[in-house]
Amino acid sequence: MQGVQFLLAISLAFTFASASDPSPLQDFCVALKDAKNDAVFVNGKFCKDPKLVTPEDFFFSGLNVPGNTSNRLGSKVTSVNVEQIPGLNTLGVSLARIDYAPYGLNSPLIHHRATGILVLLQGTLYVGFVTSNPDNRLISKVLYPGDVFVFPAGLIHFHFNIGKTNAVAITGLSSQNPGVITIADSVFGSNPLINPDVLSKAFKLDKNLVTQLQSRL
Ligand SMILES: *[C@@H]1O[C@H](CO)[C@@H](O)[C@H](O)[C@H]1NC(C)=O
Repeated sequence: MQGVQFLLAISLAFTFASASDPSPLQDFCVALKDAKNDAVFVNGKFCKDPKLVTPEDFFFSGLNVPGNTSNRLGSKVTSVNVEQIPGLNTLGVSLARIDYAPYGLNSPLIHHRATGILVLLQGTLYVGFVTSNPDNRLISKVLYPGDVFVFPAGLIHFHFNIGKTNAVAITGLSSQNPGVITIADSVFGSNPLINPDVLSKAFKLDKNLVTQLQSRL
């Protein structure tokens, strides 16, 4: 009996430590935009009747089109996740195209539900991620076309185009809905704002500088 309980505990531990979306128990579960009743479905989305599924449910077109990088950061992420392809529901993967103008930045950010694997198609990127406490070690690299780099789930990471030309990358993500936390926006641009005393103390910054940062974001 104790052996059974031990095995159960181990299998539960592995279930909760799972680093990506749970495996589906059916071939597919094409997401429905609106469920008929107003129930809340906790994980993933309601499924379409498999008999009504069409090829379009598994299809997206247009990832050959460059994203518009005319913005403050000079980068644009074009996401292809369960919102764009309902057939991705419960399958645990998604994709993004990222365009970078010269010196364009994909800001320090976190995908809290997904590991990313990026392939650089064009340009030169300085990329990296920072390990968790207590080491906070920066693992970084300069990438050239054809190079692949991995960003472990939940860690702060960035991509910076250090070249004089546009750059293009494709990232695979281990969730149908990876989630994004942009550090600058979350910390200094929350709604409502975090009390500046908190950030002043945490970042060892003058309170005026904190409010200045908050007003910019
Ligand atoms: C790109 O975005 C900028 C800023 O929003 C806009 O002015 C411009 O028209 C856009 N360009 C294209 C090709 O959509």
